[in-house]
Amino acid sequence: MVTISKPDERPARPYFSSGPCAKPPGWSPDRLKLDSLGRSHRSKLGKARLQYSINLMRELLQLPDSHRIGIVPGSDTGAFELAMWTMLGARPVTALAWESFGEGWVTDAVKQLKIEPTVIRADYGELPDLRQVNWNHDVLFTWNGTTSGVRVPDGEWIASDRGGLSFADATSAVFAYDIPWDKVDVATFSWQKVLGGEGAHGVLILGPRAVERLESHTPDWPLPKLFRLTKSGKLSEGVFSGETINTPSMLAVEDAIVALEWAKSVGGLHGMIGRTEANAAALDRIVRKRAWLSYLAADPANRSTTSVCLVLDGADQDRIKRMAALLEGEGAAYDIAGYRDAPPGLRIWCGATVDTPDIEALGPWLDWAWEQTA
Ligand SMILES: Cc1ncc(COP(=O)(O)O)c(C=O)c1O
Repeated sequence: MVTISKPDERPARPYFSSGPCAKPPGWSPDRLKLDSLGRSHRSKLGKARLQYSINLMRELLQLPDSHRIGIVPGSDTGAFELAMWTMLGARPVTALAWESFGEGWVTDAVKQLKIEPTVIRADYGELPDLRQVNWNHDVLFTWNGTTSGVRVPDGEWIASDRGGLSFADATSAVFAYDIPWDKVDVATFSWQKVLGGEGAHGVLILGPRAVERLESHTPDWPLPKLFRLTKSGKLSEGVFSGETINTPSMLAVEDAIVALEWAKSVGGLHGMIGRTEANAAALDRIVRKRAWLSYLAADPANRSTTSVCLVLDGADQDRIKRMAALLEGEGAAYDIAGYRDAPPGLRIWCGATVDTPDIEALGPWLDWAWEQTA
């Protein structure tokens, strides 16, 4: 018996994908400055726009002067692999994995670089015991595990006097959490996540000890040109002032500038964190009211406020797919089925570019789709 009628109101912007994520509110292609298109990215104008995007990122992330920030090819994957390929091999490596992306970096380390890392794993929904980490090793981890909705709670577990380097895949964490930059030697992200920008380019952040590693260590494996960050043993500083390794998409850069200027307009980093937390709190109110909904991440301290992963009482992959398709067909929610390798469930992006009323409007639609697929 059907007891729930179709809700009257749809979320105004039903974009809840965990990547690429919703464009910033008010985004329109008309907002993009197009003067740099069709010009050399090495022209005065091209370089100025690249530098401007770097300056905005530095300001918004509250990045200390000790850390460099540059644009590299290949979205977050490109940036993280560039870091692995250029800096690993100098000391033992520990790789942490608790969901699909962390597992991907383990595969790189084991099968491609063949460096026999110590691997510390946890199941979907859990965080491994971070106290097991030996900080004489280089340590690879994901700040926010996008496919399980489990994040590290903070940077307290990262030793201040570490001998190794900390490598954080921070793509769904930056602009949503306060990152203690003194604990991070390498961080990577892509504009396509919390900023609501485009993929294609990665952003690479390097602390001083990472630069020291780059200038003192020559990897045993070949490095494609796309990964080369040094020349004659010295860091290519140009990469951190807009001289990209190869040709960037200036359209993606202009789009990132629109997103970054929007981020400034909502109060910068703390405005962005506040929006994310408000969205996660709105979703939490929905979850608490429904006995059939719960979190994949059991411990609230480790629970993501960006990629929130939910399990639905007894729902298998088939039911999740049917629910997601129904909601997409109604224009009520796009792309909310969990990641293909994760346990069956829904994943709802709560990053800053989503508006809280749209999360609130989702609740009745979840009830409706749940009953429709029973
Ligand atoms: C934690 C994490 N790492 C890496 C990636 C891969 O990012 P990209 O496709 O931007 O390279 C993603 C994308 O969802 C991610 O969430």
